[in-house]
Amino acid sequence: MKEQLLTSNQAVECYSPNKVFWCPEESQFYSQCLEKMVLNNSTPVDRIIEFGTGDGSPVINSLLKTRFSGCIHGYELNREACKIARSRIEEYGLQDRYVIHNQCFFKNIPSNVTYSIANPPYLPAPDNNLYMPSLHGGKDGATITKRLFSIGSENVMLMLSAYSNPVETVERAIALGYQVIDFSISPLKFGYYSCEPKVKNAIEQLRRNGQAFYSQNIYFLAGVLFKKKDDYNLDISTELLKVMTAL
Ligand SMILES: C[S@@+](CC[C@H](N)C(=O)[O-])C[C@H]1O[C@@H](n2cnc3c(N)ncnc32)[C@H](O)[C@@H]1O
Repeated sequence: MKEQLLTSNQAVECYSPNKVFWCPEESQFYSQCLEKMVLNNSTPVDRIIEFGTGDGSPVINSLLKTRFSGCIHGYELNREACKIARSRIEEYGLQDRYVIHNQCFFKNIPSNVTYSIANPPYLPAPDNNLYMPSLHGGKDGATITKRLFSIGSENVMLMLSAYSNPVETVERAIALGYQVIDFSISPLKFGYYSCEPKVKNAIEQLRRNGQAFYSQNIYFLAGVLFKKKDDYNLDISTELLKVMTAL
């Protein structure tokens, strides 16, 4: 197995950001969260499925860094992204550890899932006529995120944006029987996708409704591990929301 991790330049050469998701800061943070909250605590028998693999780099990077020896099944609608992901998987000799399906995640959910993982589309906008339509997260940006709690997996590790209705999203997860057992937070600058005027307007409207939290310069992105409620874990959703709504 190659030790070397993917570099930003490798990805830049491959595609334009309107075709395949391209935000290295965000993808790297997702990868770190995966490593810390999922792969370091998993066994090969755990069934892990991923919503939206993109170019595959977050999972590939974390697989190269951890001892996890099971197999992750990733689902991605975008054919171009799948092609890139598969070629990287082959390059790094990870064919038996990461399998990409060019299919809609929600139409292919297996039973007994231990972890669902995702950096889901979370751009709020009235419709999906955007630079990259597949990053549309509904009117409040949280539609797909909320749906990920409905598939019934034991754990859900996903990225939660402070400008995409985080409070109602966490409340929805709790109503569906989850508790927050771990999280990491990173400040991110508004980028190519979130600065699109239609998205910016939607974010501003959400803030007026008390559903988006950010400063002029940054917003918080959290990697959050939700687990089905049991008596052994402490729920830290109050602490998570305190930070997410701080700006
Ligand atoms: C924010 S990007 C994240 C990509 C990658 N995981 C990363 O962090 O770099 C979300 C991805 O979800 C994909 N996607 C959107 N809807 C999907 C669906 N129903 N099934 C599978 N993938 C989907 C998009 O094409 C996009 O590549």
